[in-house]
Amino acid sequence: MTEPSGEFDARFTADDHFFHRHHLTNERADDEAAELIGLLGLEPGARVLDGGCGDGRIAVRLSAVGFDVTGVDVDQDQIVRAEDSAAARGVKVTWRHMDVRDLGEDSAFDGAYLWFNTWGFLDDAANDAVLASMSASLRHGAPLVIDTLHRDGVVRAIDAEAGPVSVVIEGETQTDSSRFDATSGRLVVNRIVERAGVATERVLKLRLPSLEEWAALLERHHLIVESATSRAGAPLDADSQVLVLVARRL
Ligand SMILES: C[S@@+](CC[C@H](N)C(=O)[O-])C[C@H]1O[C@@H](n2cnc3c(N)ncnc32)[C@H](O)[C@@H]1O
Repeated sequence: MTEPSGEFDARFTADDHFFHRHHLTNERADDEAAELIGLLGLEPGARVLDGGCGDGRIAVRLSAVGFDVTGVDVDQDQIVRAEDSAAARGVKVTWRHMDVRDLGEDSAFDGAYLWFNTWGFLDDAANDAVLASMSASLRHGAPLVIDTLHRDGVVRAIDAEAGPVSVVIEGETQTDSSRFDATSGRLVVNRIVERAGVATERVLKLRLPSLEEWAALLERHHLIVESATSRAGAPLDADSQVLVLVARRL
């Protein structure tokens, strides 16, 4: 089983935006931003780093309540969307089109987050470098919040599904065939999208560490896990598909 490379190749495509917009609603972003603010435990005015900000749906909401947000994304299209979103809301966010790994050791942020499956699409060394960089950007005592998929719950869900899962929106179909590769510790999704009669296929590989692995990965970068829950503070159990970690920089 080969790992993905260290080159980021899991950009959000036009198809992703099409199929996501039905469940990535404004209400959901409002709820997630509120949840994140609670987890960060910081006062407005704090400097916060959004690693892999995407279209800025979370960053603009934090900025709107007074946080000093820097949003970083390797995908130029996403940064353009984020800029448009901030302009439409009349909020100011510092957007940076770059890889999180190239942030440098600023150490000035009061808090940071990797929200909504942003971490894990690279090979192990590169994924590790993302955590190193996020950690290095934090002042001592600052929180890092990570929102990802929970390995145990995902494996259970795949077993229960026992086959491909299709989503049909406006007559267009996205079909995911998922498995968990125990050797590489990755969720492997074979995704076929059929739009306007044209089928495209791609494979996504997302590293899903166990909770114990997460603690060790983060500790290597001077981050101590303080809490591990599911969405909205729900207790984590074997069926939870979402894992939300709060770690603190030593
Ligand atoms: C699944 S999207 C989530 C976006 C956003 N955090 C949200 O909650 O909507 C992941 C984003 O992370 C970005 N990303 C992933 N790895 C990155 C890296 N190493 N440096 C910068 N951006 C990265 C991708 O380009 C993508 O826009």
